[in-house]
Amino acid sequence: MAEIRVLSVFGTRPEAIKMAPLAIELGRREGIKSQICVTAQHREMLDGVLAVFGLRPDYDLDIMRPGQTLADITSRVLSGLAAVFESAKPDLVLVHGDTTTTFAAALAAFYSKLGCGHVEAGLRTFDRWSPYPEEMNRRLAGQLCTLHFAPTARNAENLRREGVEGGVFITGNTVIDALAYTARGEGFSSGELRALDFAGRRVITLTCHRRENYGQPMENIFAAVREIAARFPDVLIVYPVHLSPVVREAAGRLLGGAGNIALIEPLDAVDMHRLMARSYMVMTDSGGIQEEAPALGKPVLVLRRETERPEAVEAGTVALAGTETEDIVRLASSLLTDEEAYAGMARAVNPYGDGHACGRIADAIEYSFGLRAAPPTEFRP
Ligand code: UD1
Ligand code: UDP
Repeated sequence: MAEIRVLSVFGTRPEAIKMAPLAIELGRREGIKSQICVTAQHREMLDGVLAVFGLRPDYDLDIMRPGQTLADITSRVLSGLAAVFESAKPDLVLVHGDTTTTFAAALAAFYSKLGCGHVEAGLRTFDRWSPYPEEMNRRLAGQLCTLHFAPTARNAENLRREGVEGGVFITGNTVIDALAYTARGEGFSSGELRALDFAGRRVITLTCHRRENYGQPMENIFAAVREIAARFPDVLIVYPVHLSPVVREAAGRLLGGAGNIALIEPLDAVDMHRLMARSYMVMTDSGGIQEEAPALGKPVLVLRRETERPEAVEAGTVALAGTETEDIVRLASSLLTDEEAYAGMARAVNPYGDGHACGRIADAIEYSFGLRAAPPTEFRP
């Protein structure tokens, strides 16, 4: 094959951050024609990432609607992609992670009888309901795809246990590659961040957006955040609030008005990574932030009952705080008062990657299409 036509499909902020360095790497390979199709499951939050990385999509399905349901997203992606595949004629479709764009794009590739590579494959909580719907999206993508780029050896093992035998490569996570683009330099472009007084204050970066946390868990989490802010007046909690209307309503109602809680608009990836780098600790239910903060040496309290990313928990830099108010307050208070507990968690660890995941994935694609004699060497932490 003279040239491999690769079409990367993604739609949300985290997929874009983790696919951007890969799209850039694929664009550099002589044997690959790289194209991008965004579903725009997210609009503003996606466009911000594309701007940071200087990427211009070849196709844009523009599907986002306020308060969209999972069925809305799935059906719009499925019907939109068929025409894109007709026009782009890819040899390989690439999808990323566990969103509804991921699952629907992998299914669309299958319907069109196209090969599909799954970036960030094999992460599992083993609980089909949590994270919801991401655990199921990721499992289904694992069955639909033909190439599997597993960040860690554990992720590859999860796939093998499910009967996925061929086409599995252990590559590291492209999020660590992305940090090389974003986590350097100083200063913020966000006016809201620039207006905050950081002097002498311990900053906690907070994010919370997951669908399984909608309702009571989110109420509990925000009650804990208010309690932490009240107990520790020197702390500044900075929360770039996700654009989901459900999240914005709860955050405004439960966290608005506290002097040391700053509710701000979503940040671009550069500001976000700089904010984390300046923080004392991070509290989050995000997946990607569980990978980034350990690389930046910041302790993380995960506002979920489970995680598909146990490697940093085992390394001791991430703790599962759950979604009960009391547990979250206890763990955060310990990190804010116990120097030894803090020092034990504030270590830079990189169980998820070494910054060369994109190169390995591009090599693995070339190898799979016969353009390279040997597979890439596996990522080992
Ligand atoms: C999605 C993913 C989740 C991922 C998250 C990252 C699914 C089912 N969920 O969840 O895995 O962790 O993205 O952030 O795929 N909105 C905007 N502008 C934007 C983005 C979102 O207005 O740029 C609002 C819209 O009203 C939209 C709502 O947020 O309907 C929810 O977005 P959606 O993609 O459906 O779900 P997320 O909760 O963002
Ligand atoms: N992020 C960002 N701006 C923000 C909040 C998060 O750029 O205001 C980045 C964050 O650093 C990480 C990614 O978005 O790279 C995580 O996305 P999110 O938490 O929305 O999704 P998840 O990883 O949970 O799927």
